[in-house]
Amino acid sequence: MDRKEFLSQVGFGAASLFLINCLGGCSKSAATPASTDFTVDLNASGNAALKTAGGFVYTNGVVVAQTLAGKFIAVSQSCTHEGATVQYDASSDRFFCPAHGSVFADSGQVINGPAGRALTEYTVDVNGNSLHVHI
Ligand code: FES
Repeated sequence: MDRKEFLSQVGFGAASLFLINCLGGCSKSAATPASTDFTVDLNASGNAALKTAGGFVYTNGVVVAQTLAGKFIAVSQSCTHEGATVQYDASSDRFFCPAHGSVFADSGQVINGPAGRALTEYTVDVNGNSLHVHI
């Protein structure tokens, strides 16, 4: 193999890796909820669980939780493995999927599979008794 052949093959390999990474990273997540900007009223009876540290509710395809430390967090509720609904475990401050055991950090990052992609994390702004949940 001469120098020109070598550079040609290396260049093709790098371009292939880039293309594969881009195609994999550019796909739209099936777990992304349709509505990603909404308000949660803490005084509404359906949201009563959020008034307690460790409580959580599902709304607009998102699970919104209050950690034991009193912080509000939110991630997409559909597991990225096969779409089961994840639950919040306050004692570990993690989300888990009861279907096949995937575990996600409070930010949605995968800790244990089989899920291979993170849950979508949302920002939660607290304004009195109202939570603004958005990207
Ligand atoms: S659907 Fe969640 S781990 Fe399989």
